[in-house]
Parts: sequence; C-alpha cells; structure tokens
Amino acid sequence: MKLNKLLLKKKSKIKPLVCLTASNTYTAEILDDFCDIILVGDSLGMVVYGEKTTKKVSLDMMINHGRAVRKGIKKSILVIDMPKGTYEKSPSKALKNAKKIKKLTNCDALKLEGGHNISKSIKILVKNNIPVMSHIGLQPQNISNNKKFRVMGRSIKEEKKIIYDLKSVEISGSFSVVLESVTKKLANKINKISKIPVIGIGASDKCDGQILVTEDLLGLLDKSPKFAKNYENLRSKIKIAVKKYRSEVLKRSFPSKNNTFK
Ligand code: KIV
Repeated sequence: MKLNKLLLKKKSKIKPLVCLTASNTYTAEILDDFCDIILVGDSLGMVVYGEKTTKKVSLDMMINHGRAVRKGIKKSILVIDMPKGTYEKSPSKALKNAKKIKKLTNCDALKLEGGHNISKSIKILVKNNIPVMSHIGLQPQNISNNKKFRVMGRSIKEEKKIIYDLKSVEISGSFSVVLESVTKKLANKINKISKIPVIGIGASDKCDGQILVTEDLLGLLDKSPKFAKNYENLRSKIKIAVKKYRSEVLKRSFPSKNNTFK
C-alpha cells in the first residue's frame, strides 16, 4: 500500500496493517510481498550490531540501512527511525536531519519516539511535508540497559501520560503511532480513542496494525521479548547448515565438481 492511499483511508476502514522491520535489501524484497509498512527500526543497533540498547545508533547507520532496504521495496511504505539525539531537543535540528534521511534514502516517512516532549519536532517535519509515524508507550531510546524494558501503563499516572502523548502526536500531525509494551487494557483504550492508526507491538489484537522485529519473528536471536512470537527457528536452521558445511569441508566433499571450474 502506498502512503497516500493509507492517508486517505478512514481509520475504521483499515484492514489490520502488517508491519515488519528490515535492515537489508534481500529481507526487504521478501517482506515487500506481505507487508503494508516496512520499518528500518533503530532496533537494528541490537539485532544487527549486537548492542544492548539502541542508544549508539547513528544517523549514518540509519541512512545506510535505509538505502539498502529502499532497493528491496516496490510497494510497501518505507518508514525509517530517527535515532536518539537527532530530533528531540531542537526542531530545527530535527528538520535538518529528517531532510537528510529523506533525501538520501527516498523513504516515505520517518518514525520519532516520544509524545508531548517532541511535539514541536513532529510539527515542523509535518509542515515541511515529511510524514511522521510516532512511537509512544515504551520508548527504547530512553532505556539505558536491557534490564529496563518493561510493561508501561500499569499505574493511573503512566496511563494518563500515555494518553496525553497520544493526543499530542495526533494534534501535531502524525499519520500513525506505534504503541509499544503497554497493558492490553490500555492498548484497547488507546485504540478506541485514537484518531490515527495504532500499530501495536506488545499491545493488543485490537490495534489497527501489528509490528514485529523481523529477527524475532524468524527466531534468529537467542532471546526475544515475551510479546514477540518466533514463527521460525532460524537460529537452529543456520546451525544445522553450518555444521553440515563444516563436516563436508573436513571430509573434503565440498567443493564438489558442481562447485569448481573446468
Ligand atoms: O526500532 C524498532 O524496530 C521499532 C519497532 C520495535 C517498532 O521501533
């Protein structure tokens, strides 16, 4: 689906949006047949670069992966995360960096973590025709170590804050919002009151769409968050293949005549 088409649809008429992350061309090529939105998420800092958090992800990393993913996409909406430190404090810096990402990757939209605290940055991007997807609830860029990932919205104070964030990002002009790691009750409430499509991750089946980190879906890592489902266990499949390769190399049965030149 193209972004213009999504923007024209009434929230109530949207079929659940299928969203996944990608960080390279060939994964994006596969996802493109099945997804409405492909996100180059800054979770790549963790699932590609092996960091404990997303805080070391740079603008250049997002641009490089964004360019790779763009090559694999024909029809899905391409959204790229603005990494920590590139948009929160100064709207003019946010605009400068957003324009750079947009120009160098030809993405359709950018995703910014935060609610009321970044409303000025969202507004300036939207005013400059850069569509914004917001990200509220758990915001991984605020997390300094992997033990701090948790469920948000259990207390009244936190629930109120997340609803306030939703209203702020809506008013600021975001076209949709990712809602991460909140109680199901709060996710259902947010879905009811939101005027823009809500994409859940660790939220609820009532969301207008779902997103997962593709490496979690594929079971590539040794651990995934509770809210992720491993639809495959690629880690064990890779192990089997590599073990077979090792054994053939040791036995000198690889390369065979099919893999060598006359
Ligand atoms: O960085 C990311 O992959 C994300 C998703 C978890 C939504 O923000």
